[in-house]
Amino acid sequence: MDRELEKYILDHSTPEDPVLEDLYRQTHLRFVNPNMACGHIQGKFLEMISRMINPSCILEIGTFTGYSTVCLSRGLKPDGKLITVEPNDEIEEFTATFLDNAGVAGKIVTFSGRLQEMIGSMNEEYDLVYIDGDKREYCEYFRLIIDKVRPGGFIIADNVLWGGKVLEKEVSDQQTKGIIEFNEMISSQKNIENIILPIRDGVMLIRKIQ
Ligand SMILES: C[S@@+](CC[C@H](N)C(=O)[O-])C[C@H]1O[C@@H](n2cnc3c(N)ncnc32)[C@H](O)[C@@H]1O
Repeated sequence: MDRELEKYILDHSTPEDPVLEDLYRQTHLRFVNPNMACGHIQGKFLEMISRMINPSCILEIGTFTGYSTVCLSRGLKPDGKLITVEPNDEIEEFTATFLDNAGVAGKIVTFSGRLQEMIGSMNEEYDLVYIDGDKREYCEYFRLIIDKVRPGGFIIADNVLWGGKVLEKEVSDQQTKGIIEFNEMISSQKNIENIILPIRDGVMLIRKIQ
């Protein structure tokens, strides 16, 4: 997006709160690929959507340093919980500190491992699922979670435009292939409706009809 428009959006949106600002800065100082953290505008969008749904139970696939975890958890019902899954256990301590600083640690259950290893032991029904793990596995995640989403519940998938690579005629990398397959699978699904929003790297909203 045009830099000036991006600045205009930032100037006319609620500013980032200090805990998230610190989390974003520390993520950039300490981790490789810090741009995996969703950041302020997308984070605020996730928070707003979560507040609108007011979920009892959220599943997040791909915690990384917890930016989206904090944002999504802010819309939970007072006794609600967010289950977040992350295979990289080296980030765990860092993330735990920030969930605590944000005052949401008590609502978060962290699973160390891949979704595929965890899903069998999860008996919850989800009001909202946030898909932000390995782009090659999005179709697999969808198949694993769809029966656990309540009728009328929502799924949000990040990076569905993948830097514009979804338009490439000859696709060789597996992540782009994964995203393209996911977008095609979703558009041909019955029993859901969906829309792609051009926020950051593309965010897909999906509603399970029944
Ligand atoms: C883009 S980052 C998540 C960013 C985070 N949601 C945020 O906005 O701050 C993707 C994360 O998914 C994790 N991941 C990869 N494969 C996974 C799997 N099978 N199950 C759960 N998480 C996975 C990666 O280790 C990585 O930390």
